Amino acid sequence: MTVTRKLLCLNGPNLNMLGKRQPEIYGSVTLDQIRDQLRRQAANHQILLDFVQSNHEGDLVTAIQQSDSTYQGIILNAGAYTHTSIAIRDAILSISIPVIEVHLSNLSQREEFRHHSCLTDVCRGMIMGFGFHSYHLALNYFIETL
Ligand code: DQA
Repeated sequence: MTVTRKLLCLNGPNLNMLGKRQPEIYGSVTLDQIRDQLRRQAANHQILLDFVQSNHEGDLVTAIQQSDSTYQGIILNAGAYTHTSIAIRDAILSISIPVIEVHLSNLSQREEFRHHSCLTDVCRGMIMGFGFHSYHLALNYFIETL
């Protein structure tokens, strides 16, 4: 495969628990399965996709900071940090590549505290509510625009 484009898929806290974590909300697909499917879809389009998960806010900040010179875009599910993290927001503002915010669940249908995202207005766009398909929709955007 001749790789011409590289993307980072970055996942925040508790997303490593997908599959057993509240399956009625997040579905039964594991994060490893999402990673493998996304990598396959990306590879079909000569895109290399790096996939990272961390439960630590600082790790996510560092990964975003370091992504600028390496990747052409980021698919970001910041988990609960979506609703609280000015640090992740500032990291997104410090880079020039596009970031797509994704969520498995539809935040608007959930608790009030999940209705606000610190990230949406500094991202290229936001996709939510389609389960693991949210990731694929974001990848499709990059496939068609990069
Ligand atoms: C989530 C939604 C967040 O509110 C939650 O804290 C998560 C997952 C989602 O993908 O639906 O961890 O980002």
